[in-house]
Amino acid sequence: MFKNVFIFDHPLIKHKVAILRDKNTGMKEFRELIEEITTMMTYESMRDVELVPVEVETPLETVTQYKVPDDSIAIVPILRAGLGMVNGVHKVFPTAKVGHIGMYRDEETLQPREYYCKLPDGIENKTVFLVDPMLATGGSAVDALDALKKRGCKKIKLMSVIAAPAGVEKVALAHPDVPVYVSTLDRQLNENGYILPGLGDAGDRLFGTK
Ligand code: PRP
Ligand code: URA
Repeated sequence: MFKNVFIFDHPLIKHKVAILRDKNTGMKEFRELIEEITTMMTYESMRDVELVPVEVETPLETVTQYKVPDDSIAIVPILRAGLGMVNGVHKVFPTAKVGHIGMYRDEETLQPREYYCKLPDGIENKTVFLVDPMLATGGSAVDALDALKKRGCKKIKLMSVIAAPAGVEKVALAHPDVPVYVSTLDRQLNENGYILPGLGDAGDRLFGTK
């Protein structure tokens, strides 16, 4: 395996992913599960976060404590399914600014197409969580990472709920400096680029479009 790829093996995440995959899980529950899983992944992926010392006055004395620097985190969802993960990161970092990258996969070629990009000012100095629930061929994530780096981002973490081995490999080879956090590594892609066993189309299930 690649040294910058982290697959979660937490029983609570497994439990929630099992419900998420079920085709009978409706839109509301699906959305809530994506959010909950994202929050758990955010905790884990912040183990290496840099803290700054601050002086805190307790009711009894002043003490040096350590905090995440203000305005140091940004969230960038890959539209559209990545939107489902934004609230999950916001539960941990409510003031994180949000940028958006719009990508869709051409259904015939499976090639990603960028159609939108709007990022917060100063993003180049923030830790950026690039979020997309599905890492399938890896094309969308690789292109989104290229787009962020082109705009100066230096510290990026990619978080996906479900990944295929081909997608993980593609990202790890193209962007070895980017840690990839995945809750579950699935078996393979089918001939249409869908993850097996997967959960179907994440965007459609989040937004009720099919
Ligand atoms: C899905 C998913 C990823 C992409 C993954 O988006 O949310 O962005 O496919 O596939 P890849 O790894 O092979 O590039 P989709 O293109 O279906 O668009 P949507 O989010 O608007 O539904
Ligand atoms: N996008 C999805 O939404 N699901 C997949 O299985 C692959 C790409």
